[in-house]
Amino acid sequence: MGENMEQVVKAKKLKKIFGSISAVKSVSFHVNAGEIYGFLGPNGAGKTTTLRMLTGVLKPTDGEVEIHGMDVFKKPIAVKSIIGVVPDEPKLYDNLTGREFLEFVGSVFSMRKSDLNKRVSELSEAFEVNFLSKFIGDYSHGMRQKLMLISVLMRKPKVLFLDEPTVGLDAKSAKILKLLLRKYTHEGVGVFMTTHVLEIAEKMCDRIGIINEGELVVEGTLKELRNYSGKESLEDIFLKLTGGDEIKEIVDSL
Ligand SMILES: Nc1ncnc2c1ncn2[C@@H]1O[C@H](COP(=O)(O)OP(=O)(O)OP(=O)(O)O)[C@@H](O)[C@H]1O
Ligand SMILES: [Mg+2]
Repeated sequence: MGENMEQVVKAKKLKKIFGSISAVKSVSFHVNAGEIYGFLGPNGAGKTTTLRMLTGVLKPTDGEVEIHGMDVFKKPIAVKSIIGVVPDEPKLYDNLTGREFLEFVGSVFSMRKSDLNKRVSELSEAFEVNFLSKFIGDYSHGMRQKLMLISVLMRKPKVLFLDEPTVGLDAKSAKILKLLLRKYTHEGVGVFMTTHVLEIAEKMCDRIGIINEGELVVEGTLKELRNYSGKESLEDIFLKLTGGDEIKEIVDSL
């Protein structure tokens, strides 16, 4: 590990309590510039809650988040100008066309019209998007997701947060997203993505943190995780750490 590797996201003892539910329990980790950090965990583990705290959408019960050295809650505008967030269920304006939405986002972030047009046409070509003149209300789930991706990637954020980015994308678009993220990390971008799909974490991420019931149970490169558990496949590691040993019992009893 290089000592000069810049930590672009730092989560310090992040905690979120919803009423009687401890959704995230004192989670600490960091994301380096130039890497894709995968946050892997089963349904309800606390992935989305963590991502929402990292991006300043949800106030933690306790703990801190720094992005490029700035406190997310003390410097919200400065942080939001350098991050891009792709939520799992993007809120989009149904009565705008895709292009109107992109122009709206571009104006919020003071993008030059010529830069916007250039980036949008490049990304539209990559994701085979030919529906920007249609109303968002008529989009399928995958179409909405692609529009959201374009609206984020066109801004060239320094840090990207993606919540289950490949859900809803067809295989080709998922592959293109993977290649694009790799290209951006080579340019120094840090990526934090959540997934509950093992293969995605395995194929896309440089380091993986496994979260279960609000706790970060293990973290490392795939190789480190294998050494740690003495098991070969990430599936075995994941199931072991997230209590999947009962699966056989459950299936047998059905
Ligand atoms: N706004 C909220 N109010 C109350 N409870 C919440 C809220 N948001 C999340 N939770 C609870 O926090 C826990 C973690 O939820 P979270 O959405 O972070 O899980 P996740 O890991 O993203 O799951 P999935 O893989 O299904 O997306 C769950 O028990 C959920 O019910
Ligand atoms: Mg989620």
